[in-house]
Amino acid sequence: MNRLITLSSEISLKPFSQSVTHNYLTWFNDPIVNRYLNPKLPKTNNKIRQWIKKVQKPPYYYYSILYQNQNIGHIGIRPSKFDKQLPECAIIIGEPTCWGKGIASIAVEWAKTKAQSLNHTALLARVNKKNIGSLKVFTKLNFKKNSKSDPIYQWFKFTF
Ligand SMILES: CC(C)(COP(=O)(O)OP(=O)(O)OC[C@H]1O[C@@H](n2cnc3c(N)ncnc32)[C@H](O)[C@@H]1OP(=O)(O)O)[C@@H](O)C(=O)NCCC(=O)NCCS
Repeated sequence: MNRLITLSSEISLKPFSQSVTHNYLTWFNDPIVNRYLNPKLPKTNNKIRQWIKKVQKPPYYYYSILYQNQNIGHIGIRPSKFDKQLPECAIIIGEPTCWGKGIASIAVEWAKTKAQSLNHTALLARVNKKNIGSLKVFTKLNFKKNSKSDPIYQWFKFTF
């Protein structure tokens, strides 16, 4: 079932499917987009298809973000390595022309409601300390900095 979730007049969410494979082939191989992402993200067609297959079903809840009906990235929640009891937020706007329009902020706000609807007590996020845009998104949405941190990543937590 491909029900759309409307977040605003221009932004909606669509359950993840293999039809977006080609977008990730571009985005995950784009050094501007991937510079602060996990270097282990899949980069080939086959690996991306396997990754999509994995995150299409619980305990992963991934949705493509449509902006003006175009697929521009995803928002999701997934099990966290930081705390196995809690979910972690995954946000990627793969089209740099769409950055700075408030889209990630709206999507992450929705991810909070998704995590809460699944009866979680909090939502985590892991952000590269150089990723100014992402740091701003989570700070603005009242995620609190977690004391566990390393030279590269800052952990955030939003408690419901
Ligand atoms: C980081 C990212 C998610 C931000 O998405 P976005 O849709 O541009 O974020 P928003 O428009 O909601 O921006 C939130 C705030 O950060 C600011 N911002 C966004 N990118 C910025 C940047 N590169 N430098 C400085 N400020 C930035 C916005 O101006 C906005 O500020 P405001 O609330 O004061 O107006 C997006 O750039 C992205 O997906 N990058 C590639 C993948 C990635 O790094 N994902 C995050 C992994 S944790």
